[in-house]
Amino acid sequence: MKKTIADYQLKGKKVIIRVDYNVPMKDGKILDDNRIKESLKTINYAIEKEAKLILLSHLGRIKTQEDLEKNNLKPVAQRLSELIEKKVIFIEETKGPQLENAINNMKNGDIILVQNTRYEDLEGKRESTNDKKLGTYWASLGDIFINDAFATSHRAHASNVGIATNLPSGIGFLVEKEMKILENAINNPKRPLTVILGGSKVSDKIGVIESLVKKADNILIAGAMANTFLSSQGIEVGSSNIDEENINFCTKIINENENKIILPIDAITSTNFQTPTNVKEKFITNINKEDIILDIGNKTIKLFKTFLDESNTIIWNGPVGKYEQEEYSQGTKKLLEILKGKENTIIGGGDTASAAINLGYKDAFTHISTGGGASLVMLEGKKLPAIEIIDEK
Ligand code: 3PG
Repeated sequence: MKKTIADYQLKGKKVIIRVDYNVPMKDGKILDDNRIKESLKTINYAIEKEAKLILLSHLGRIKTQEDLEKNNLKPVAQRLSELIEKKVIFIEETKGPQLENAINNMKNGDIILVQNTRYEDLEGKRESTNDKKLGTYWASLGDIFINDAFATSHRAHASNVGIATNLPSGIGFLVEKEMKILENAINNPKRPLTVILGGSKVSDKIGVIESLVKKADNILIAGAMANTFLSSQGIEVGSSNIDEENINFCTKIINENENKIILPIDAITSTNFQTPTNVKEKFITNINKEDIILDIGNKTIKLFKTFLDESNTIIWNGPVGKYEQEEYSQGTKKLLEILKGKENTIIGGGDTASAAINLGYKDAFTHISTGGGASLVMLEGKKLPAIEIIDEK
């Protein structure tokens, strides 16, 4: 078992907490503050215990000079300060005297948020490649390291693995919650376990499918990746995108697991991908050459419902249609409605989490994961490097 923040005496200690504040932003405005809210339990606990909190996070990806301003963490410091009703000292630099002096002057309960750790990526990708010197430097600023950035835990960065290598470490409450819920659902589910897999590409989910097909009772496949599965069965999918390279993989998975894999039986189609044109609901066997499949139809929703109604654990990863456009949002919306309030229903992060939150279902589920990539890695049955490195109890 990994140590947690609760295993450490925090009073007067400089506690470096890696959070994931990689939030969607537009023109300096935060579009969704869910990840900030989910970090509050650990932060408030550390404040209560009179620690000195040093928060680190990345934001976006930094390749050019222009990326720096776009991905400045300052607005996050303001939002965090509003949420905890307390001053958050924002340090514009990722290293150097300004940061070091601010840390030396901290009182118990103070909070510093350091500038975007990926500013260190501009030259030499020091953060993303877990540069040893950088990890050691950041570790030298604190006494204890806590990883509460579940959503970044599939990355071995200097600000998580690098620091944890050099300091006593533990996980925060968000990581503890995410790991427990996902591990339980995957390895010890109340059966039947049904998985809904959507999203665009089969190639993104090969590992997930291979792992879950062994564990789940039913796998409902939808989203654009269903096109490749349908096509592998000789079904015409018109002008829909398919993943040619993975046709054989789909055939093999279906042949080996015929009774587990459920594919759409109807679809919402358009003859133009961007602009809804000739939008129709069609049986999957009636798709024409010019049709593009953009959502599941009502018969598929009904079919999926029969499996979902009798399931005792559900994991959903990937929207079932191009939900950002009203015309193709019905499948995702109706599934959310069917699953709302159902016990042991886990939304697996990334696009599916955004869909659930944006469509107004934030509080309707056992768990909406903050991690897209990280929850996919867990669904593949693989370990997360930034959790593996944490000290054992
Ligand atoms: C995420 O949003 O999935 C994490 O913050 C990781 O971000 P990244 O894909 O840019 O590494």
